[in-house]
Amino acid sequence: MNDKFCLVNGRVVDPARNLDEVMPVAVNRGVIVDAAKIDDSYRRIDCTGKIVCPGFIDLHVHLRQPGNVAAETIASGTAAAAAGGFTAVVAMPNTSPAADNAGAIEYLRQMAARTGMVRVIPCGCLTKNYAGEEMAGIGSLAQAGVLALSDDGKCIQDHSLMRHVMQYARSFHLPVLDHCEENSLKGGGVMHEGTWSVLLGMSGIPSIAEELIVARDIMLARDTGCRIHIQHASTAGSVNLIRAARKKNLPVTGEATPHHLTLTDEMVKTYDTNYKMNPPLRSEEDRKALVKAVLDGTITVIATDHAPHTQTAKLVEFDNAPFGIIGLETAVPLTLGVLVHKGRMPISKYVSCFTAGPAQILSLDWDLAPGREANVTVLDLEDEFTIDASKFKSKARNTPFDHWKCKGRAVLTVSQGRIVHSLLD
Ligand code: DOR
Ligand code: ZN
Repeated sequence: MNDKFCLVNGRVVDPARNLDEVMPVAVNRGVIVDAAKIDDSYRRIDCTGKIVCPGFIDLHVHLRQPGNVAAETIASGTAAAAAGGFTAVVAMPNTSPAADNAGAIEYLRQMAARTGMVRVIPCGCLTKNYAGEEMAGIGSLAQAGVLALSDDGKCIQDHSLMRHVMQYARSFHLPVLDHCEENSLKGGGVMHEGTWSVLLGMSGIPSIAEELIVARDIMLARDTGCRIHIQHASTAGSVNLIRAARKKNLPVTGEATPHHLTLTDEMVKTYDTNYKMNPPLRSEEDRKALVKAVLDGTITVIATDHAPHTQTAKLVEFDNAPFGIIGLETAVPLTLGVLVHKGRMPISKYVSCFTAGPAQILSLDWDLAPGREANVTVLDLEDEFTIDASKFKSKARNTPFDHWKCKGRAVLTVSQGRIVHSLLD
């Protein structure tokens, strides 16, 4: 029933193929097939007025399994992904134990096959034990099938080690995804260092803590030839560094999160720990610079940094709360609002930030051409609704966006040929 269907009357936006036209997209047993050749046995799903895109990929997701299944599991995290319109997620390796070896990647693969709603793309640690001291076995991680490497949540401080890691990553054609943060400058900071941290009397994380490492990583990308991807860029200075590097054709990409595109450090005045994340919410000038960078193509990826935490963990004083918020079920509506409805971003460029952008970093062929695995996301740009966190598929509720009024969301998600989310009748 579910394995043969055709999405009809939708506007197909497929950035990797430069395609934008009303046409059918047919799926048979997990594969896109030529819609001109299908018979009546295919179920027709009407997508009139909707945007039919290659499946959205989230390049930055914490699934917390193994280690903290009270906050999230592979099952609940991928269910949240499906509900948010994502057909694939890149699982960050800062689990417990950390995914720093082939066995851990095999565990992830098996659990994802058994319990996952969408594709889980493995990412391995840069360092053993996620400790930032010794290089992980990058060769065996590559053999185990990781498509990227990252010590997200932490940052390698030793430049010689980082260089070594990048030299190895390059020889295995793997990109390094870096959480850019210089520890001595971050200190014990809990929010952005600026007017609001002074007014609130909280210790600040200065922009330079991020920018210093972004600059280092760009220089090491030039030195080693390794592809570097700047995770959750949050400052105007980081954006300028990425822009200049890309102008020089260095192998540098960057991502922005929905929360850094929509919120600022002013919100910390509520003392709500759902405004605490790392990197922190920055100033309005930083937020504007990030929006501009997505609009002008300096930043080619939007990724959530979905970081589930239990209510108990977050229901403490701001200083003591863990960093991070969930994002899978709010990313599309929030970014449609700030980029497409407000920023007038052409829809094909928007779709690219969730498809061709991340796919390029992962070296995946990712479009709706016949023969491809069927991963499809359908958007309704006009659907008006209010975010209701109590209905989330995620186990976690640590979002500052509950009750936000939004316009536009994913109404159908097809992952590996299966319809895993549908608001269509
Ligand atoms: O806010 C964050 N939370 N930033 C990170 O880099 C890591 C993440 C987490 O794992 O909770
Ligand atoms: Zn991070």
